[in-house]
Amino acid sequence: MYHNRGMITPHHLVAVIDYGSQYTQLIVRRVRELGYLAKLYTPEEIGEVTEPGAIILSGGPRSTSEPDAPDIDYAKLTSFGVPVLGVCYGMQLLNIKTGGTVRPSNKREYGPAALLPEPGCRLFEGVSPSSQVWMSHSDTVDHLADHCKIIARNSEGVPVALQWGESMFGIQFHPEVTHSHEGRTILRNFLSCASQLAPFDIGDFKRELIAEIRQKVGERQVVCGVSGGVDSTVLAVLLHESGVRARFIFVDNGLLRKNEAEEVQNNFQRMGVEIETVDASDRFLEALKGETAPEKKRRIIGSLFVDVFWDAVGDAEMLAQGTLYPDVIESASNAKSKASVIKTHHNRVERVLQLQEQGKVIEPLAFLFKDEVRALGASMGIPHDILWRHPFPGPGLAVRCPGEVTREKLEIIRESDAIFISTLRQWGWYDKCWQAYAGLIPVKTVGVKGDERSYEFATNLRAIVSEDAMTADWVQLPYDLLREVSNRILNEVKGTNRVLYDVSTKPPASIEWE
Ligand code: XMP
Repeated sequence: MYHNRGMITPHHLVAVIDYGSQYTQLIVRRVRELGYLAKLYTPEEIGEVTEPGAIILSGGPRSTSEPDAPDIDYAKLTSFGVPVLGVCYGMQLLNIKTGGTVRPSNKREYGPAALLPEPGCRLFEGVSPSSQVWMSHSDTVDHLADHCKIIARNSEGVPVALQWGESMFGIQFHPEVTHSHEGRTILRNFLSCASQLAPFDIGDFKRELIAEIRQKVGERQVVCGVSGGVDSTVLAVLLHESGVRARFIFVDNGLLRKNEAEEVQNNFQRMGVEIETVDASDRFLEALKGETAPEKKRRIIGSLFVDVFWDAVGDAEMLAQGTLYPDVIESASNAKSKASVIKTHHNRVERVLQLQEQGKVIEPLAFLFKDEVRALGASMGIPHDILWRHPFPGPGLAVRCPGEVTREKLEIIRESDAIFISTLRQWGWYDKCWQAYAGLIPVKTVGVKGDERSYEFATNLRAIVSEDAMTADWVQLPYDLLREVSNRILNEVKGTNRVLYDVSTKPPASIEWE
């Protein structure tokens, strides 16, 4: 049940059966982008699906010819009488279930291919006569059942799309990835075969979430950690709107950006939500003293955060966490235990696990993707600048300060970063960057300040674009903007005499320096 913990299950949703493809989440996302409610289910969970509007069987890494290959309860699947779409593995499974056979292959076909649809097929209405699609499969269909129609081939004449009856389809490519240029049209065509589909509307969704929060929390008090980031802010405002008794705790770990603690407090004040700030800066900086190993620094910060947070919480009746859908699914697919479903710093704490066991942890955003969280935030009136803040890592400036973290270095980073970010905003580049920051290179090099030689640290500017932080490209900022930032840093910030712009893609570099 991990995909659907605690979620409302209206009728006529699009049930996406997860066979483990790395793109499965994207199917859900695309369906929701088309305006319909979609949820993921494991193949075993099909028994829990009631009155779906349509069903999509995802792709997956396995071969249908393996002895313990994931299966489908075909009688149940067809009992609903709704349109079914099998994607890659899903198509092969349907082919077998309908009486065909699949030929295993030890070579994986991966990448772009041409889709040549048969004319007059509903699934490909409006799709070009030759359309690029994205393949990722090893097995291919071999023998087809008598009642199976080939509705598209690739440029070598191999069948890549099949149809059984009125509205059961199989496609050998991924319509959900953008490399399939007309994938959205194909998905829309498929969904148009359904007679009734539940709409996905963020306003309705918010009302359902609030009702669910009220019902789960009741008279109890719920505690929620806030960082100023999008997820915890939206969660806090949602809890606030739902009117339950709540405490919001913000830990200042001394590794925040310039004036960040005040800014976060002001932001919450603007939204009418009261937060408690715990200033633990000294404890964090003390704990980090002398430590230079990146992973150790992270561990120190993580475990101290947990201590400080739980000291502030005291006896929690309930805990709210801002876990999002990708975290739930990602953890669930790797999961051996429930423990790994919980995100961030809290996840190592026995206490959270106990609360979870007792049903005292709520994760109201666990069904949403990031852009949907932003839409939810906007529907509650959270200002644009808060919803579109760049991501900021939990360990804060420590990961932008290689080597030992000292107050002096943090000051250089804070001042340089404030100059960089305010200039990006002035020039209209802040929203074009996915993330941007100034960090410090802990090497002292020679320079001239006034008439004197100086030996000072270098400042590193990084600005990237990304979709999901898994890959990133550096931003081609205007030279004049960089010149203005560099001039100001060199003139105004004590302790640095050199400014560098990081032109590294991820991979192989990462976004942060540690
Ligand atoms: P990297 O440096 O791995 O960063 O390319 C990818 C994204 O993750 C953020 N990041 C973190 N976020 N806790 C967080 O909440 C962390 O420990 C952490 N480390 C990196 C980073 O800022 C970037 O957006």
